[in-house]
Order: sequence, then C-alpha cells, then structure tokens
Amino acid sequence: MLQPWCSGSARCVRKALFFVFIWGLIMIAAIQFRHMETVQENVAGSASHGASLSSGRFLLQQLIDSSYTREPVVPVTQSPLEMEPLLDKTPSRTEDKLIEEIETRLPSLPLAYWNRNKNNKAMHYKNESCAKFPSIFDLEFNNIYWQSMHTSNGSFQLFGAFYDTRELSKIGPAVRIVGMINRIEPTVKSFCQIWYEGEKEPQLVETFEYKYVWYSKWGNYKQGIYQPYIITCRVPQSHHKQVPASVSLVPKACDTATNNLRVIYNKPPEKKDFAVCVKGLDFLHEDLSVRLVEWIEMITLLGADKIFFYELQVHPNISKVLNYYEKLGKIHVTPLTLPGGQPNVPAFQHMYLTKKMNHKRQNELIPYNDCLYKHMYEYEYIALLDIDEVIMPVQDATWRELMDRILPKSLKIRNESRASYNVRNVYFLDDLLHSHGWFKDVPRYMHMLQHVYRAQNFTKPNQYVKCFHNPERVVTLHNHFPLACLGSGCTSYPIETEDAQLQHYRADCVKSLKKSCVEYRENSVMDTTIWRYKNKLIDRVTRTLKTLGFFGPGYASER
Ligand SMILES: *[C@@H]1O[C@H](CO)[C@@H](O)[C@H](O)[C@H]1NC(C)=O
Ligand SMILES: *[C@@H]1O[C@H](CO)[C@@H](O)[C@H](O)[C@H]1NC(C)=O
Ligand SMILES: *[C@@H]1O[C@H](CO)[C@@H](O)[C@H](O)[C@H]1NC(C)=O
Ligand SMILES: *[C@@H]1O[C@H](CO)[C@@H](O)[C@H](O)[C@H]1NC(C)=O
Ligand SMILES: *[C@@H]1O[C@H](CO)[C@@H](O)[C@H](O)[C@H]1NC(C)=O
Repeated sequence: MLQPWCSGSARCVRKALFFVFIWGLIMIAAIQFRHMETVQENVAGSASHGASLSSGRFLLQQLIDSSYTREPVVPVTQSPLEMEPLLDKTPSRTEDKLIEEIETRLPSLPLAYWNRNKNNKAMHYKNESCAKFPSIFDLEFNNIYWQSMHTSNGSFQLFGAFYDTRELSKIGPAVRIVGMINRIEPTVKSFCQIWYEGEKEPQLVETFEYKYVWYSKWGNYKQGIYQPYIITCRVPQSHHKQVPASVSLVPKACDTATNNLRVIYNKPPEKKDFAVCVKGLDFLHEDLSVRLVEWIEMITLLGADKIFFYELQVHPNISKVLNYYEKLGKIHVTPLTLPGGQPNVPAFQHMYLTKKMNHKRQNELIPYNDCLYKHMYEYEYIALLDIDEVIMPVQDATWRELMDRILPKSLKIRNESRASYNVRNVYFLDDLLHSHGWFKDVPRYMHMLQHVYRAQNFTKPNQYVKCFHNPERVVTLHNHFPLACLGSGCTSYPIETEDAQLQHYRADCVKSLKKSCVEYRENSVMDTTIWRYKNKLIDRVTRTLKTLGFFGPGYASER
C-alpha cells in the first residue's frame, strides 16, 4: 500500500515518521479543542445555576485534572529512568489490623477468640482424644463465606451462628446456625461443640432440630439440592448465664471439627425502631444506582434506622452508592455467595438465579434469616424489602407513627403483640406513567416521585404482602411471612389499606399475576401519597447524586 509514494527504505522510514509527527500534532490540537469546549460548556452550566464561586474552583480543578489526563498524550520528554509510578505506600498492616479486616469481611469467623487462645490451643479439648478445638487454618471453607460439615448422609454449609436467649423460646438459651443442607428431612445425627471464653472444655450437645425454612409444596423438594435450614442446639443448664464464643457442628461428639463459627450476640441496652434487610443484590449490569439512592433516602425518611444489604454482584455505580451510605453509617453491606456447587461467576450466577427461580428463592432465605438473627435484639421491627418496594403509611408521616396508631387497633382485636404486621401489595407499573407524561416539577431521575399511577386494586389479602416482623417472636423468616414463630404461633395483623400500602415499583407484575395484570393496567388511579416527601426527597437525592459525581465533575466538588 505504501508503494506509490515510498520507494527507498530509508526515505520510507523518514516519511512514515513525518506522518506520525503530523498526526500527533493534529491529535493534540483536537484534544485541546475538545477540552476547551467542555470547560466552556461547564462554565455556562454552573453559571446558570448561579454558582460562580464554585465554577471558579471548578476551572482550577479542571486545569489540575487535565494536566493528569493529558500527560500520556503530550510527547514525553522525561526519561523512564526518572519516572515513578504512583503506588499505595501505606505501611503493611499489623496483625491486629489484619484481624479486624478479616472479621469485617467474614463475620462468622471467630478470629479474635482464636487469636487470644491460640497459644494454649493444645489445651482446648474435652480430653486428649475428644473434641479438639480446630485450628482456624484447618477449617473447610466453601465459596468464601461458608464453612462445611460432611456426614455419612448429607453435607452442611454453614453461614452464621447466633445466641438466642429470647424470652418466649421454650427450649431456653440456644445456639442457632443459619445454613444449607443438601437433604430434605435430614435424619443424620450431629452435635454442637460450644466453646466459651476462658473455658478449656467445650460443651457437647446433640443437635436439637433442623428447622426447614421452606414448604415442600413450593418445589425443589429433592435430595441433593441445598436447602435452607436453621440448625438449633440447646445450651446446657450449667451455661445458661454465659454467652458462647464459638460453635462447631460435628457428626460425632468427639470429632475434630471442620467448621468453627463465631456465635454472634449483638444486644444493646435498648432497641431502636426499624431495620430493613435486603436480600443478595444481583444487579451486575443493571445500573440501578440512581433508583437505589432514591429508595435509600425514602426508606430513611420513613424511619428506617439502618438498612442491611447483602451483596452478590452489583454494577460499579451501585457499589459507589453503597460505599457512600456505608461510610455514613446509614447502611451495612454483607458480601454473599451461593454455597455448594452453585455458580458464583458473576454473569453466570445471574443467569442461574433468573432461570432457576426455586433455587433463587431458597438461597434468599439465608440472608433474610441471617439478618433476623444478627439484629433481633437491636430493633423493634425488621422488614424484608426489595429495592423496588416501599411500605408507605397513608395517614402518618413515619413508620413509628403508623405503628403507634395501628398497635391499639390490633390489640383491640386480640390482646397480644403479633409475630408480624403485614401490608398489602399494590403495583406502580412503569408504563402507567408513560401514557400520562412526565411531571414537570419533578426531576425525571426521581423514579418513584414520577410514577404516581398505580393499579386501582391491591393484590389479594395475604398475597405478595410485606411485613414488619417482630423479632422477639420469629424463628424462621420467609420473604412475605414468617414460617415459624415463638409463643402463640405466627400471628399476623393485616394493616388496613387506609393505614398503609406496599408500593411496588415494577415494569410488570410477577409472572403468576399475568392475567390480573391486564386488569391492573386498564384500571389505574393517580396516587400521590409519596409527594408528601417531595421536597425533602428531591433535595436529599439530588445532593447525594451531586456528591457522588452523577452529574459530572462540575458538581462533585460542591457540597
Ligand atoms: C473423653 O471424653 C469423651 C466424651 O466425654 C468420653 O466418652 C471418653 O471416654 C473420654 N476419654 C478419655 C480417655 O477420657
Ligand atoms: C439419608 O437421609 C434421608 C433423609 O434426608 C433418608 O431418607 C435416607 O434414608 C438416609 N439414608 C441412609 C442410608 O441413612
Ligand atoms: C391486655 O394484656 C395486658 C398484659 O398483657 C394487660 O395488662 C391488659 O389489661 C390487657 N387488656 C385487656 C383489655 O384485656
Ligand atoms: C377490583 O376488585 C373488585 C373487588 O374485589 C372486583 O370486583 C373488581 O373486578 C376488581 N377490578 C379489577 C380491575 O381488578
Ligand atoms: C456509571 O457508569 C458509567 C458506565 O460505566 C460511567 O460512565 C459513569 O461515570 C458512572 N457514574 C458514576 C457516577 O460513577
């Protein structure tokens, strides 16, 4: 191709070099030009917002920024011998710092307890040939966050262990382990080795029960598939006043365990009002970050003291949002995987969860129950919500006021607290808005504030509801209702639709409601209950989006 204008090889090289040089100059000019354009646009943009001071600061910022971004393009005069890459020069972590880091990442690992006792760990056993305390390095982990036990008939994958001293529990203080077993109706015997701070010998007790967190009629009722369970061991009378440090589950009482879980017991002197638990987020390619900001702010306005997220895979923009709120202490994020042979490669896992609905539902019960047991002493109520659902009080401003008003109503019907208080589901479908048009006084990025058309009818009582669960009463939780409860069974008070509604923001109804969904679409009403929070919500969301750089760097430095 070069032939027509290039004959001798030396001339050829010179010519080529010349072209490269000219091309380089053109590129530099082009980049300069584009850069000036963006600066001008941005100045215009921020001036129109009347923020001339910050635009000045912004210009400076741009100049500093551009000196970075341009560096690789400008012909480099510096010799590589004088160049130094920017590395993280933080000194290496001390062991204490490492332990802290590991415990945050893997809260089920009793690392601090093990570390305090590791020097005399040879002493930790029932007797020389029975129930040795396992070295933390000999535990069998599965898919990062789980620990395993294999028996002659079934494998166990354990996620978390908790100390249950709830008054209504008739079996007395107990250790509850949240995990999965690849058996239905497991019959195999097992034992808990319960370890205490400052005690050499573990307490050995036979497992009291494997509580199935599922109904057989829902499907997946097959040997070999990992199923959700709460595994319970009663604490011996002699130790009712002590909090266990860790627990191992073993097939025979004297075995050296392949698992050892910290027994979590978060019991502050006083309870806060509301915690919200969100199952493992699976939004790898779906950038729901802005909707998530609106949801977190809305839920917080309504009175959630803290939101506990579990995270499978999320888009980097969602991570940005989660990190931001976690630093503020408003939310907490627990990393999560699927145990056993289930897929954990990000996109593949998403496909699996989409195609295998029953597996998805069974796996969801782990974060829900983990969240319940971790926080049962810290909050009066725990709600399990998805990030497209809001429990909206109709007459009150907050959840606290709502509960204060409906509790007397419920007590009038039956003079005792309920295991849960359920709220009826109603769909706010995406396309209902689009047949009406956007609202001009609401930014379009406020999904919920824009989507104020809903189906006229609620879904049927008890169907697709969400609850405020009473953690003093619940033993096993399912998405919509508790499955097992302490005291007088899983009583649930249906909160009337005049008091609250579960606003469910979706593109479409769940599959099982395909038929009714046609009617929902044909009979919609405008429902602006959420507009009571309009100003506050727009203000909070917009401020957060600016801070996080969603409107570009021009706004990021404003605060
Ligand atoms: C060790 O303890 C176990 C369980 O209490 C007991 O069955 C066994 O006899 C003990 N062995 C020795 C050597 O003391
Ligand atoms: C294994 O456990 C299942 C229940 O999960 C039971 O039906 C089966 O009989 C057991 N098999 C053996 C060999 O014990
Ligand atoms: C309801 O129960 C509480 C104690 O649980 C009792 O103090 C109260 O008197 C009862 N109220 C009625 C109306 O029975
Ligand atoms: C709404 O509910 C009422 C009463 O349950 C029922 O008669 C009606 O057919 C429902 N309408 C739609 C559109 O679903
Ligand atoms: C969101 O993701 C897109 C695509 O990766 C990226 O261009 C954008 O900068 C991200 N937004 C923020 C605020 O980081």
